[in-house]
Amino acid sequence: MALLFISKVDSPEDWTRAFGKLMPELEVRVWPEAGNKADIEVALVWRPPSEALLDLPNLKFIASLGAGVDHLFRDTRLPDGVPVTRFVDDDLTAMMTEYAVLHVLACHRRLPEYLEMQPKAEWRELPQSLARERKVGVLGLGVLGGAAARKLAGFGFDVAGWSRTRKVLPGVTCFAGADGFKPFLARTEILLCLLPLTPATEGIINRETLAALPKGAAFVNLGRGGHVVEADLLAALESGRLRAAVLDVFRTEPLPPESPFWRQPRVIVTPHVASITNPESGARKVVENLARIRRGEPPLDQVDPSVGY
Ligand code: NAP
Ligand code: GLV
Repeated sequence: MALLFISKVDSPEDWTRAFGKLMPELEVRVWPEAGNKADIEVALVWRPPSEALLDLPNLKFIASLGAGVDHLFRDTRLPDGVPVTRFVDDDLTAMMTEYAVLHVLACHRRLPEYLEMQPKAEWRELPQSLARERKVGVLGLGVLGGAAARKLAGFGFDVAGWSRTRKVLPGVTCFAGADGFKPFLARTEILLCLLPLTPATEGIINRETLAALPKGAAFVNLGRGGHVVEADLLAALESGRLRAAVLDVFRTEPLPPESPFWRQPRVIVTPHVASITNPESGARKVVENLARIRRGEPPLDQVDPSVGY
């Protein structure tokens, strides 16, 4: 029995060690060394080459190395009828919640503006609101967005969220679907994006969206770079329509040195580190799903290819 590991960004050694502790009989093969393809029962992947998952006659499921699956649905040819799972894990959620709270608080307390003032030795107090006066809006109320929204509400922020289907979350005003989008934006002073990237959410942060936010709003993107029309975001920052942004994800990663975001005032750039899959807990999930499939049960955390997340 073998697992095919395909990723240019995750360490095969760390994952092989993690599987070795949990399931020593599972042989981890690192792409492109697939060996006898008939042995492969699971593929653990991040952005696999387009043909890599075909011709694996005994493949039981495809596991994404991350919470997002846009890397799989974009240009990979997927074998018919093989379930795709994504990574859902308490530690991943806890890390993302920390990062969301960190940067919403930073925008709330005007840190990007103070960082802009520091090289100019500018000692000046900026007006400050209380958390209960600050309207935070979370795009995506799933595993990660839902957890962040609840934690932010716990800080006393006036929190709203937006999802495809309507949600009920204690302490969070919930908006849904196309009809709920504009009213959600109109009340959002700090916008946090935790959507999956799908055909429906590609480019969702654009000129029109940014114009629908109150003037001087801030934007925190922890979702995917493809959510943003970068030229529109830069224009909103340059005009002052948007006060600040924290960007962890970009259309091109690593962010090229010539990208204007590196030098844009009041923008904090981080290198796609909001939440990182841990091989120990990731391997536990894969092993659990293999056991479920053997018992004839569906794997946990399956995605729905028809909606792309
Ligand atoms: P999830 O549980 O699948 O939640 C997705 C949420 O987005 C759901 O609430 C869903 O609505 C909503 N949604 C999807 N399409 C929508 C649409 N067209 N209109 C409105 N709402 C829509 O996903 P998750 O685990 O929270 O992860 C979210 C994303 O975070 C991932 O896909 C990934 O891109 C990103 N991420 C980033 C990092 C990082 O380090 N920066 C790390 C992990 C994940 P419903 O509830 O109605 O289905
Ligand atoms: C990271 O971006 C993930 O999708 O887990």
